[in-house]
Amino acid sequence: VLSGQCPFGGDRVGGAVTTPPTLEEWYPDRLRVEMLHQNGPQANPLGEAFDYRAAFASLDYEALKADIKQFLTSSVSWWPSDYGNYGPQMIRMAWHSAGTYRIADGRGGAGQGLQRFAPISSWWDNGNTDKSRRLLWPIKQKYGAALSWADLMVLTGNVALEIMNFPTYGFAGGREDAWEADNATYWGPELWDPTNVKSFDEMVNRDKRWRGKNGDADYDLENPLAASHQSLIYVNPEGPYANGDPMGSARDIRVTFTRMAMNDEETVALIAGGHAFGKSHGMVKADRIGPPPEIAPIEAMGLGWHNPVGTGAAENTMTNGIEGSWTQDPTTWDNSYLENLFKFEWKQTRSPAGALQWEPIDPDAPKTPDAHIPGQSHPLMMMTSDIALKTDPVYRAICEKFLSDFDYFTLQFSKAWYKLTHRDMGPKERYVGPETKIEDDLLWQDPIPPVDHPLVDEADIAALKAEILGSGLSVSDLAFTAFSSVATYRNSDKRGGANGARLALAPQSGWTVNRRTLPVIEKLRGIMAGFNGKAAGAKKVSLADLIVLGGCAAVEEAAKAAGNATPVPFVPGRMDTTDALTDAESFEWLKPLVDGFRNYVDPSFAEITQGRVSPEQVFLDKANLLALTAPEWVVLTGGLRALDLNHDGARHGIFTDRVGVLTNDFFTVLTSMDYEWKKADAAGTTFTLDDRQTGETRFTATRCDLVFGSNAQLRAVVEIYAGRDGQDRFVRDFVKVWHKLMMLDRYDVKRNEAGM
Ligand code: HEM
Repeated sequence: VLSGQCPFGGDRVGGAVTTPPTLEEWYPDRLRVEMLHQNGPQANPLGEAFDYRAAFASLDYEALKADIKQFLTSSVSWWPSDYGNYGPQMIRMAWHSAGTYRIADGRGGAGQGLQRFAPISSWWDNGNTDKSRRLLWPIKQKYGAALSWADLMVLTGNVALEIMNFPTYGFAGGREDAWEADNATYWGPELWDPTNVKSFDEMVNRDKRWRGKNGDADYDLENPLAASHQSLIYVNPEGPYANGDPMGSARDIRVTFTRMAMNDEETVALIAGGHAFGKSHGMVKADRIGPPPEIAPIEAMGLGWHNPVGTGAAENTMTNGIEGSWTQDPTTWDNSYLENLFKFEWKQTRSPAGALQWEPIDPDAPKTPDAHIPGQSHPLMMMTSDIALKTDPVYRAICEKFLSDFDYFTLQFSKAWYKLTHRDMGPKERYVGPETKIEDDLLWQDPIPPVDHPLVDEADIAALKAEILGSGLSVSDLAFTAFSSVATYRNSDKRGGANGARLALAPQSGWTVNRRTLPVIEKLRGIMAGFNGKAAGAKKVSLADLIVLGGCAAVEEAAKAAGNATPVPFVPGRMDTTDALTDAESFEWLKPLVDGFRNYVDPSFAEITQGRVSPEQVFLDKANLLALTAPEWVVLTGGLRALDLNHDGARHGIFTDRVGVLTNDFFTVLTSMDYEWKKADAAGTTFTLDDRQTGETRFTATRCDLVFGSNAQLRAVVEIYAGRDGQDRFVRDFVKVWHKLMMLDRYDVKRNEAGM
């Protein structure tokens, strides 16, 4: 080596960490187990001990709101406010922050401030939201770590509505920021080149995610998506394929807003409410606009969409491409959006940027003032997606009701806005601040009645455990039922989980995957009635608690049988909810497509996935929604197999002769070369494990079993539990993850645990 040479050794350097090709390019179908560790504690500059909710609760909320108010009616030269009011652009920022939420997997939403990161930061539809956030930086800076971006964005939207005379319903803080881009959520199949505006046109070709033609009976958007095409929050304002068809737009709006968990009335309230404010920006052709933030030049310092015309702002602003405002007074809450929509007939026209939009046919229709130039005014504007509200008969009837009853409209918009911005926060225990409105029970919050009785004590718990174990219920059935009660939990929108005992209510009680729980619940109900009828001091136990307690007792038995006796923690305090407090339709979305923990694959799987995703990939998705790490995923599955938690009595993955005993047999068999692994069906969904010596089939397995031996990262963990020193560690870690699962939705007792 020549002295003084560069440490890379040579006179040419072609790459550094992450230079492509990366693993994804070489092996696009690889199972990316490492995504379970996304946004991990290493990425968090505040450290795991930082208690965000307590920090938010301690800040001077009224002073914060006053600061936001003052900012909203100011103006800075690098991005002057329209009409001297930043309110409308902040409402749009907040709506886009929340509007990525989709009910199918609970991902997206305002909860983590993900608008700051790619891909969301750089979606075409989020044009100039980078400016909105940058304008807010002085407030974020002033309040520091006690105010997350996620909370600040929503709160600013609320305060913006308030200064324009709209009475908001409430606001809850408590959203903890993510610290890195989300690289796991599926946003749709279309690839596009964000540097090339022509490829944006290609992206408008959205057929890959839709089935049928707009208007067909089977017209449908693939799950779990909610947006009509890539890089939009919901629908193209110019109509499907930018075709200007209001009825087609209405169909898209209905599909996409339903996926955001909004009904027709909420949908109309949101669109008509939102577009009472502000304007659309379309002064410059899109091909003159610079690249989005994620790929803008380094000196743009995180800002994107450079506009070369004039100052690139104020009267030259280019955001979406449509130009104009819906009302005569875009900074005041009134009913003029709907009045204008219905009072006038509208004709198609084009914006300076070339986008399709609508203006009144009547030349005497009122005008809207220019946002920057005093004395100038413009025709009113509607988008195709606005005309849709008048064209679709159901939306039209709702508009007419809102038109005739402004107070009713105001209330519906305030409730829908509150739902939109809080939908992904989960139980109300996660809400912080003086305006949370936690006293109201709203159905979308999946209410559970508060604890209204003394809880069981240690002696009761011991007695109940003995009674449950003596009732004839098997360890396996008890563990199955407890697991099934927590299995619906989604760390995305914090819905589901054991609290409430919704396992015993429709729709969950009717799901095939839960069938094994029915007789167990029946018996537990009897034990509950017995205890609650005679317990001293008005003490009670809920079915929800009893289901979990039964699981804990079962795991203790199984560990004891394996020679690893250990207590399994149990924290009482769950309550039972009711059918009336359960939105059955919205719970249906929590039904699993694949639950590898219980070796369940929905019978429709092959048909509805068309080979585009594998069962093990959906299993990974579920592990992610249960907030599991890779080691937790492995140890949990191995333990559940030992306990025989298959939903249907099949023997797949039960690699043991000592069923119900908490052994590490699953792992030792997985790693053993005594067996030959063979496909048992042509499609490769089930397998046999044949003894290499005798050829005899010893065990059978599914893909959700084999993945732990075939995937290198999972296998590395499996080897630890299969080691000679693995059994004790296995039982200890299994009990730990079991308890974690049982507590996933217990925001009533662990409000401050990071990452939950
Ligand atoms: C602005 C489309 C729903 C609030 C805009 C703009 C577009 C648009 C294209 C102009 C962006 C720009 O160029 O600056 C849509 C579509 C919707 C929808 C297609 C659904 C069908 C909503 C909802 C809200 C909302 C639900 C809030 C509740 C706003 C506000 C502005 C705006 C306040 C004005 C922003 C400003 O003045 O800078 N919308 N929107 N929109 N939207 Fe929507």
